[in-house]
Amino acid sequence: SYRVLAQLHSVPKRPSFGIAFDIDGVILRGRTPIGDSPKALRRLYDDSGSLKIPYLFLTNGGGIPESRRASELSQLLGVIIAPVQVVQGHSPFKNLLNRFENELVVATGKGEPAVVMSEYGFKKAVSLDEYASYFNSIDPLSPYKTWTTKQPCDEHTSSIASVPRFDVTSERVKAAFVVSDPVDWGRDIQVLCDILRSGGLPGEKSQHQPHMYFAADDLEYQAAFPSERLGMGAFRIALESIFNRIHHRPLEYTSFGKPNPSVFENAESILKQLQLPTSDGDLNEDYKDMKSHHFETLYMIGDNPSVDVKGARQAGHPWFSILTRTGVFRGKENHTDYPADHVVDTVEEAMEYILQREG
Ligand code: G3P
Ligand code: MG
Repeated sequence: SYRVLAQLHSVPKRPSFGIAFDIDGVILRGRTPIGDSPKALRRLYDDSGSLKIPYLFLTNGGGIPESRRASELSQLLGVIIAPVQVVQGHSPFKNLLNRFENELVVATGKGEPAVVMSEYGFKKAVSLDEYASYFNSIDPLSPYKTWTTKQPCDEHTSSIASVPRFDVTSERVKAAFVVSDPVDWGRDIQVLCDILRSGGLPGEKSQHQPHMYFAADDLEYQAAFPSERLGMGAFRIALESIFNRIHHRPLEYTSFGKPNPSVFENAESILKQLQLPTSDGDLNEDYKDMKSHHFETLYMIGDNPSVDVKGARQAGHPWFSILTRTGVFRGKENHTDYPADHVVDTVEEAMEYILQREG
């Protein structure tokens, strides 16, 4: 009918592709943009600054809430990024809320791990920094740590109370979450071993191991230093090896993040939601039915073959992997074990390739 045709005309052509960008080693090295990565991102917006092509960031990093990371990235990269466009390693932790909402949980890692968990809705999330402070001499090496381990802006740790906010001497920790890369590996391994082998109450004995979750399992990643740095996967190996030597039952744990297929499924559904409203802010009926939209191609641009490329390959159609040479991978040709669908030097080159391919 005329009405439907008129409506269709008022709707911009819906792109049949979307893009997922890895952050560390593709967009940023530390806090510095790699090459002219902001320029590559600007190509995803029209002249008025509106989003033209659905895209998101799919990083295994984290440590601050998605909303804060979105404004930090917007500042660093000079484009407007919405919180929904930022998927971090720990983002799936919010799906565990129904299990642990009112339980005592401990969270560790750089940044503000307990704030991340509280924002997801966990009512009794305590940072490992704070938790450890309630147990005298739990870390025998702390008197030798003359540096400060207080993190710059962690509201919870900066106000560590002498009186615990929760009764940590009688209440058992039900789960431990490694939200981001741990800062004090020695202290964290000691206290996590205490929690895990005591059934959640350091000093006690119990057969039951509290749940243990890692946001990601990257062995190494690209940070500001020229060669790769040890990541959360390296910390997991250290904790697991030690725990398995001191405890009669091997560590039980779950790791999230790429390359898990669920991360790519979640990214696809977010990209579907990033649909573009018409100029009058209305949505076409067809747009409202997200399930009716199928991307022909979803590009994953990453620097780590065994994480980004492996994940996209496992996820299958419509994922298409593009490997850059700006991070973990520096090979001349393609990677042998996890070959990408396409290899480029930089993210700018990846954007050029995608826009040409999509015509
Ligand atoms: O700690 C961050 C690291 O594990 C990887 O981040 O952005 O390369 O997935 P990314
Ligand atoms: Mg990376």
